Amino acid sequence: MDRASVSLSNVQKSYGNLPVVHGIDLDINEGDFVVFVGPSGCGKSTLLRMIAGLEEVTDGEISIKGRDVTDLDPSDRGIAMVFQSYALYPHMSVRDNLAFGLKMARTDAAEIRLRVDQAAAILKIDHLLDRRPGQLSGGQRQRVAIGRAIVRKPDVFLFDEPLSNLDAELRVSMRIEIARLHRELGNTMIYVTHDQTEAMTLADQIVVLRNGRVEQSGSPREIYENPSNIFVAGFIGSPRMNFLRSEYKGGGRFAIAGREFQAPEFDSKLPAGAEFMTGIRPEHLAVVDDADQAIAARVDFCEYLGGTRYLYCVLDDGQNLVVEQRTGPDIEPGMIINLDLSSNQRLFFNSDGARL
Ligand SMILES: Nc1ncnc2c1ncn2[C@@H]1O[C@H](COP(=O)(O)OP(=O)(O)OP(=O)(O)O)[C@@H](O)[C@H]1O
Ligand SMILES: [Mg+2]
Repeated sequence: MDRASVSLSNVQKSYGNLPVVHGIDLDINEGDFVVFVGPSGCGKSTLLRMIAGLEEVTDGEISIKGRDVTDLDPSDRGIAMVFQSYALYPHMSVRDNLAFGLKMARTDAAEIRLRVDQAAAILKIDHLLDRRPGQLSGGQRQRVAIGRAIVRKPDVFLFDEPLSNLDAELRVSMRIEIARLHRELGNTMIYVTHDQTEAMTLADQIVVLRNGRVEQSGSPREIYENPSNIFVAGFIGSPRMNFLRSEYKGGGRFAIAGREFQAPEFDSKLPAGAEFMTGIRPEHLAVVDDADQAIAARVDFCEYLGGTRYLYCVLDDGQNLVVEQRTGPDIEPGMIINLDLSSNQRLFFNSDGARL
């Protein structure tokens, strides 16, 4: 086999006769941190649970380290899963919670002690080993849940929204902890979230799912800079990419809200009169003095966040857009500003949402 650590081939899932995962093919490299991201109900957890063996596949094949595991029990797959609800045993100490799975597997007592101590040291919970879960904070409980996965020495770690029960500040610090853990252990990790910041910051490879299909798979940079369609472009990035209704005029010219721009690359692709969308991220819109190459927009609303400012603007034809500004003179609601749309980072999408 190749270097694929986890490999999915035409993996499908139906509940009754309702298909929810439609034939997913995916190769995950050994040691990669892969994040499944997508809107609620798109099939992230279902896919992860099929890899874990907690959910049967309706069709297709899953292999881990070159071994077909499609019909194996979860305990025989070389995986360990961390859940959103920590699923700790409340009446057991942290040490016993960490040791429980190994005891069940009849691991030698000295080996259990060694692995528990190692995991506790990695997660900095050595001082909590005699407490019960009820005597821990949310972040500490989550560490214990992760520790329970570490002691099993799995080939692959599976995480399903492990941080979503934590408050905002703790999420950020646990996110960094998980990144550090990945760097230290070097295992393949598959992580489900609907938080795009977690996806962008943790992943070597992001898999964007929608309605049980892979919309795009690639590095965070590929997904952000080169989204293959309007869904991915709009899903990753906050505030989201602006999409402006545009009309092709022929001769490499197109119009947005009555204002004409140049896009020579269209010449062979579009008939005159064709409608499409121009996508520009808020940080790629510059406020300029010169109205010549720019479009006029009325500022409806300003959000001041300290380091950045978001300007919520309206074009002449009523289309909305958001501008992110890091510097520049103060801008007040009601002002008319000129926006340069000529960014070489603008993207074009046809009426089906595919990239032009
Ligand atoms: N046991 C089940 N029976 C029937 N339908 C189910 C079952 N479990 C999940 N589904 C459906 O399968 C689809 C995918 O669910 P899944 O839990 O994988 O979504 P998700 O991407 O993890 O969403 P979320 O972000 O809300 O956790 C949903 O439409 C859901 O309603
Ligand atoms: Mg889920």
